[in-house]
Amino acid sequence: MTTIGFPPGFAWGAATSAFQIEGAVSEDGRGPSIWDTFTARPGRVVGGETGEVAIDHYHRYRDDVKIMADLGLSAYRFSVSWPRVQPAGSGRVNPEGLDFYKRLVDELLEHGIDPWLTLYHWDLPQPLEDAGGWPVRDTAYRFAEYAHLVHEALADRVHTWATVNEPWCAAFLGYASGEHAPGRREPVSAIRAAHHLNLAHGLAVQALRPSRVGGCVNLYAISPATEDDHDAARRIDGLQNRLFLDALLKGAYPPDVLRDLDMDLGFVHDGDMEIISTPIDLLLVNYYSRFTVSQQPGGAASASAAPTDSGSPWVGSEHISFSGGGRPVTAMGWEIDAGGLLEVLTRLRDEYPAIPLVVSENGAAFDDTLTGGRVHDAERIAYLEDHLKACLDAIGHGIPLEGYFAWSLMDNFEWAWGYGKRFGLVHVDFGTQARTPKDSALWYAEIIRQNKAHEPTDS
Ligand code: FCB
Repeated sequence: MTTIGFPPGFAWGAATSAFQIEGAVSEDGRGPSIWDTFTARPGRVVGGETGEVAIDHYHRYRDDVKIMADLGLSAYRFSVSWPRVQPAGSGRVNPEGLDFYKRLVDELLEHGIDPWLTLYHWDLPQPLEDAGGWPVRDTAYRFAEYAHLVHEALADRVHTWATVNEPWCAAFLGYASGEHAPGRREPVSAIRAAHHLNLAHGLAVQALRPSRVGGCVNLYAISPATEDDHDAARRIDGLQNRLFLDALLKGAYPPDVLRDLDMDLGFVHDGDMEIISTPIDLLLVNYYSRFTVSQQPGGAASASAAPTDSGSPWVGSEHISFSGGGRPVTAMGWEIDAGGLLEVLTRLRDEYPAIPLVVSENGAAFDDTLTGGRVHDAERIAYLEDHLKACLDAIGHGIPLEGYFAWSLMDNFEWAWGYGKRFGLVHVDFGTQARTPKDSALWYAEIIRQNKAHEPTDS
């Protein structure tokens, strides 16, 4: 196989998130999150599906850890549900919620799997949204308190911590396009949310010391569709990638993005950028696809227009279209381009201060079918193999890549798409909750086994 030769100690993982898998939304003192509220609103999620049961991981976590062990995973990235451990988002802690994560982590450790804990994967406690949500500065301080209390409970057994998963999605899908919870369409609020999510990250990094801490961003390779579209590519790259990377790693927002947005930045206080750029130990990179972008006719005239309420996540850059570059797509319609992963990792090395990197999510949805106890998901295997090759190339080029986490361990609740989009290595029958490793799971297990077999032994 061509994906052998990863360095010893490379983290071989899979990732999930709390709301997408746990279910048990009203058990053991959990409070409501914005995703509970959002999924209850008609028309927000395909088929009206909710996270009420999800894949029942809250009750089946032991079986699920056993599946991870059978695959030979060395690491598992999961998220903690804030409303499970602090139901109102501030104040009272729910010990039963914390106990769940203690049990999960103990189970992982017993199976020799390193727990990688993400504090926020989009399930904001509803009372904090009622108080204004991420557009309000106070939410960042509440997050720092929550980070501290989870750390107190779990720092003895969790060594790698991530703060906020994909702040781009939380800010722009949550508050500009409204495609995600809380479903607001307020472009200015989305920019405020982005800043406060960045601030929350920085404050949490400080609260989580001395543990190993990273931030987590979703990065895209971005190309102009034609020679005339370089400015469109610059703008989308600015909002998608640099607004977060420059803040976290360079301590400043990119001037061209601020110019494009052309808005009052009074919510950025003195000292915020220093907090946001508090040094981190690693950067978690979620990579799925490439965007090929073009300026729509007539769009250039509005290039510096202030944000309008268009329902687009591309605040201030609504006149840019995503044309696709002619490559095959997944069931999400996302273009498959493993070369883009190498491009993104190379860019991090070339344009940002040196920092260890991890691919913390990568994977694809396809229309899988379970027949005779098997799922022959050759397309997913090809996707994973191509992206793992890109990782190996990156390492060959001296890029400090320390791990890879497939998204996702199991089929689960894919946000506004409900249960219709299957990303798992493991198939889940949502009626019976039966888990069946797909061919891709067996393939991934073999890659892990062969790489581990090539590692020097301890003795
Ligand atoms: C990422 C999310 C993850 C999942 C994958 C497909 O943006 O972090 O929860 O939805 O996309």
